[in-house]
Amino acid sequence: MMMPPFRTEYTGDILIVDDIPENLQLLFEILNEEGHEVRRVLNGQQALKTVAVDPPDLILLDIKMPILDGYEVCKTLKADHQTANIPIIFLSALNDVLDKAKAFSAGGVDYINKPFDVYEVLVRVNNQLKLLETTRTLTQRNQELEILNRDLEAFNYMVSHDLRRPLTRLLGFCELLADGELGVADRAEAMEIISNAGTEMNQIISDLMRLATVSQGELQLEMVNLSTMAIAIAAQLQNQNPERQSQIDIAPDLIIAGDRRLLKIALENLLENAWKYSSEKALTKIDFFQADNGHFCIRDNGIGFDSNQQNQIFTPFTRLHKERNFAGTGIGLTIVQRIIQSHQGQIWCNSKPNEGASFFFTCGMQL
Ligand SMILES: Nc1ncnc2c1ncn2[C@@H]1O[C@H](COP(=O)(O)OP(=O)(O)OP(=O)(O)O)[C@@H](O)[C@H]1O
Ligand SMILES: [Mg+2]
Repeated sequence: MMMPPFRTEYTGDILIVDDIPENLQLLFEILNEEGHEVRRVLNGQQALKTVAVDPPDLILLDIKMPILDGYEVCKTLKADHQTANIPIIFLSALNDVLDKAKAFSAGGVDYINKPFDVYEVLVRVNNQLKLLETTRTLTQRNQELEILNRDLEAFNYMVSHDLRRPLTRLLGFCELLADGELGVADRAEAMEIISNAGTEMNQIISDLMRLATVSQGELQLEMVNLSTMAIAIAAQLQNQNPERQSQIDIAPDLIIAGDRRLLKIALENLLENAWKYSSEKALTKIDFFQADNGHFCIRDNGIGFDSNQQNQIFTPFTRLHKERNFAGTGIGLTIVQRIIQSHQGQIWCNSKPNEGASFFFTCGMQL
């Protein structure tokens, strides 16, 4: 009976390992025809080297090979966490039940018998690639959910602590006013307290909205000149406090691929912090430059903090200098971190109390 032709649904980067060139050629033709990217090596050692340099999506691995047999190659790959998740299908001329058991216990996910049946090869390869795709999607979804979950936790915390405080104040003074026993002066004061509490709540809510909007949507990639952006932001900060003495040095042509709108929000927050937390200095000094290793750095000479607390400062609504008089809600750096991470980059800092702070970041995007 004629089999219906098999339709490949998932294509991938496949490595075939077999010491018999004819087998390699045959499999290559079958898979290449279907649109897979196919690489071939003739022995176990070459297979290990190739996988280390450029891991494929799937490996078809012959069992019987001289020096390093398929089981050994499989065990070695499974023992290394970098390569452990690459699915391996064994190619076997042996129909022995014991060998299949051995193949599975070495970490293989499936096996194909020789001589090859085209239909079988395509179905088994397709199955593995489908599984891989599903796992990748699930892993990514999981990471997104984790971030969402963290946001929700922060939101919960926010509502139960920070938002409740001004609300309680607001309600308390409303009650006092409603009693109608306050004199004119006290009434005016109560009104002011109510209004301030409202403003505070409003600020908290708009911060939460800001956090939610940077986490959404696709990046609009283009080449962005961070230097010109930073110069404009710095000028605004200096205009806001013309009485302050400051020296802001921005290296020219710091250019990266990224989303202009988001990168501007990130730079604004970093420079605002540098400006805010150096306000007690007679002369504020801020530098923005790219180090020799390519890391971008925004450095200030302000009050600094203990670097051990760097995990906290990226946590939403966490502030280290509450006892001092610096305005803020503690959301800025969380937003910056989200933006940098969405650009495949990292952000970290280096600081000591009273010795200024340096914030470093990288960006992994390319046009
Ligand atoms: N350049 C800096 N120098 C010293 N401390 C800093 C600096 N940048 C951040 N911090 C510390 O990290 C905390 C978190 O910073 P973040 O920008 O998230 O919040 P914020 O500045 O307090 O408020 P906002 O939400 O308005 O930005 C700050 O409260 C401050 O204690
Ligand atoms: Mg800030």
